[in-house]
Amino acid sequence: MSDIRKTNLDVICVGAAIVDIPLRPVSKNIFDCESYPLDDISMTIGGDAINEATIISRLGKKTGLISLVGEDAVGNYILEHCDKTGIDRTGVCVDKDVRSSINVGLVTADGERTFVTNRNGSLWKMTIDHVDLSLIPQAKILSMASFFNNPRIDNDAMVRMFRIAKEHGMTICADMIKPRLNEKLEDVKEALGYVDYFFPNFDEACLLTGEKDLEKAADRLLASGLQHVVIKTGKKGCYIKSFDGTVLEVPAMKGITAVDTIGAGDNFASGFITGLLEGKDIRECAKYANVTASISVQSTGATGGVKNRGMVEERLKEYDQQYGQE
Ligand SMILES: Nc1ncnc2c1ncn2[C@@H]1O[C@H](COP(=O)(O)OP(=O)(O)OP(=O)(O)O)[C@@H](O)[C@H]1O
Ligand SMILES: [Mg+2]
Repeated sequence: MSDIRKTNLDVICVGAAIVDIPLRPVSKNIFDCESYPLDDISMTIGGDAINEATIISRLGKKTGLISLVGEDAVGNYILEHCDKTGIDRTGVCVDKDVRSSINVGLVTADGERTFVTNRNGSLWKMTIDHVDLSLIPQAKILSMASFFNNPRIDNDAMVRMFRIAKEHGMTICADMIKPRLNEKLEDVKEALGYVDYFFPNFDEACLLTGEKDLEKAADRLLASGLQHVVIKTGKKGCYIKSFDGTVLEVPAMKGITAVDTIGAGDNFASGFITGLLEGKDIRECAKYANVTASISVQSTGATGGVKNRGMVEERLKEYDQQYGQE
């Protein structure tokens, strides 16, 4: 079967493509002011799948996006971004009955933040019916940008996509966010069983499993049948446990002052997936992931840091010097 597969794409990312409007800095007493001037208010691309697709594309891989937008100005902005970034947007469904999601982020000077979101926006409306399943086999890797981000892409929806991916010999990667509808591990266990590389952060892994330490959380996740759990541990780097019991800890880049960690996880996944596409082993993929994320946290926004592959390659050399390797 797999030899008739058309691999036009390296990776296809499934999930959210929205617009963020960050408002910063705002003070907590914003309502005491009649008008509140800021130096800049503008739209930025947001959403896990488009963030990932953007970074992977900048790292030089052929990337496709499966998402839902409305037939509106924000939807057009997202489509335009795909074209400018070289992301194949065949899989971006434009629905005239849906409003594209916008997140307005209010950020205080000391980094406290809250998001105002549209509970009827495209992120909440996306279902399996918006997914063109025939596109999946065109890629080598399927990245489910995040479990739980599009609440209606539930276990059954993911299983439908993942089965197709597996029938075509593809690798499946997935990240997660905190469940929005209080979903439990049991609710997504079947889908998790198809995943080759799962990228929760430490808090999320604990939350989903009810465990309090890395190894126990990893074991609970592995029990679903997935292959490798890659738990992000912020400035420490990441902890990996595989189905065969192998444990690997890969440290983060040293000496980084994080300005904005939004999208650090998306950049991590992008670096890891790029490594996989290049046939790197799991440790090298994790290094590439840490290094990519380390650039991201030094700039604001999820896609403001990594501009091109050269930046990551340079940073990788520094990383190897820090840890005394070639
Ligand atoms: N201070 C730091 N120095 C170096 N690297 C960092 C730092 N903070 C984060 N990173 C890198 O970013 C990766 C992802 O960060 P984190 O563990 O916060 O993920 P996350 O919580 O999924 O992020 P997100 O907020 O995007 O969801 C880490 O594994 C690490 O490689
Ligand atoms: Mg995350």
